[in-house]
Amino acid sequence: MSALSLADVTPATREAPLLNVVGLAKNFGDRVACRDVSFELWPGEVLGVVGESGSGKTTLLNCLSARLQPDAGRIEYRLRDGRVAELFELSEPARRLLMRTDWGFVHQNPRDGLRLGLSAGANIGERLMAVGARHYGDIREAAIDWLAKVEIEIERVDDAPLTFSGGMQQRLQIARNLVSHPRLVFMDEPTGGLDVSVQARLLDLLRGLCDELGLAAIVVTHDLSVARLLAHRLIVMRGGAIVETGLTDQVLDDPQHPYSQLLVSSMPQ
Ligand SMILES: Nc1ncnc2c1ncn2[C@@H]1O[C@H](COP(=O)(O)OP(=O)(O)O)[C@@H](O)[C@H]1O
Ligand SMILES: [Mg+2]
Repeated sequence: MSALSLADVTPATREAPLLNVVGLAKNFGDRVACRDVSFELWPGEVLGVVGESGSGKTTLLNCLSARLQPDAGRIEYRLRDGRVAELFELSEPARRLLMRTDWGFVHQNPRDGLRLGLSAGANIGERLMAVGARHYGDIREAAIDWLAKVEIEIERVDDAPLTFSGGMQQRLQIARNLVSHPRLVFMDEPTGGLDVSVQARLLDLLRGLCDELGLAAIVVTHDLSVARLLAHRLIVMRGGAIVETGLTDQVLDDPQHPYSQLLVSSMPQ
């Protein structure tokens, strides 16, 4: 009997990280926002980035999603064809294409991630058109499917997002981001602006979608209960640097670094 090596049976997509970050740094004037940040993200993995306000989480996310150019370091992203590209060595149009097709970005404030002048349905449809969908009936059908998926009454398809509650707007923003099947989704405090009762439902929904779609995601949050529910693995940041990383339950139940211990003990979960 010939032995099959793991490489023969493991799909190529599982063998290499989707994102490889090496020595990333970003300053604003003489203020350090991120320093020497290195980690990998694997396909299907949800990585939580936690730390107190000002620890550099949003700056890191903005660099990773090419919205902000780092001062130093490399961000290597594995493209659909398997090639690895350094984000800021790509041309500007190539980076823009990644943002439109490969990635999603869920803002804390849904108004920053929605087109307020368009209907709910058009907000979802626009993302599909950006990846080449042209057939009006199909686009509308997909938009309606996604409204249902994120628990918005489909009768609201032609309503403007500003007529929605904050929780509905956030669910719409999520639908707009996920409809085009991105390979990687960035989320900055996705439940941050919402009432606690609305937060819990949204978290359940997000977790279900991550599982169902096998999404890779980076979720920035200062709320450890959000991290606990969504993330497989955590990065703890302090003063722009990673102080600890590990499986979510390990970090939250048995934090090793004194700062992580303080963070965990000071926060009700
Ligand atoms: N555009 C900016 N200009 C100047 N300083 C900034 C800017 N954005 C962030 N900072 C500073 O960088 C540090 C990290 O901020 P940020 O990434 O927003 O942290 P977090 O998201 O963890 O709260 C903070 O000291 C913040 O004041
Ligand atoms: Mg932030």
